[in-house]
Amino acid sequence: MVQGRFITFEGGEGVGKSTQIRRLAARLSATGREVVSTREPGGSPGAEAIRDLLVKGAVDRWSPVTETLLMYAARRDHIERVIRPALARGALVVCDRFADSTRAYQGAAGGTDPGLIAAMETYILEEVRPDLTLVFDMAPEAGLARAADRTHAETRFESKGAAFHARLRDAFLAIAQAEPERCAVIDAAQDIDNVETAVWSVVTRRLGLDG
Ligand code: TMP
Repeated sequence: MVQGRFITFEGGEGVGKSTQIRRLAARLSATGREVVSTREPGGSPGAEAIRDLLVKGAVDRWSPVTETLLMYAARRDHIERVIRPALARGALVVCDRFADSTRAYQGAAGGTDPGLIAAMETYILEEVRPDLTLVFDMAPEAGLARAADRTHAETRFESKGAAFHARLRDAFLAIAQAEPERCAVIDAAQDIDNVETAVWSVVTRRLGLDG
């Protein structure tokens, strides 16, 4: 079977992932490979419907454990209908957030038992694991200020408070440190063109793609 490559972008709120995903997808497409650009929670019609339940409404609408179950329901649909078929076709899949966000938001920052999250990874992700994860890092205050500038209704997680967002940053950095062969930390506080250069350099080097 032809195998694609799976690249995930992770980090806290307002770190600039979407802009960089658009730029990376354009550069990767220019190499002639099929690129599938997607996001979580969401990425398939069923998962997008679940996303609405998760990102809108009162901050205490769900407990962290319930969020974990909803995230994984959405993720399973996304994997079955979009990610796994794309990888089987040999595509490059670029995903805005994936399983590390559950480890950080619902686990480390939210307090869900890491054992439950590890079991979800085993039984729900199965073999679908990122080849490369870019962890976008910046001070949470700066990211939250950028996120607040956007006018949108998806504010549930942004509203969780400074301590939550500080734990989140530490959690993403700890994941990157624990799995250095999969993860690379990107300084997201740099200007946008420098971030693009840093992303492109890591992607081409780690995945052995022609630049
Ligand atoms: P986004 O703002 O990057 O599109 O992500 C939507 C929100 O969902 C964001 O606040 C992070 C949160 N989230 C989790 O809490 N756990 C997860 O597993 C994922 C994928 C996202």
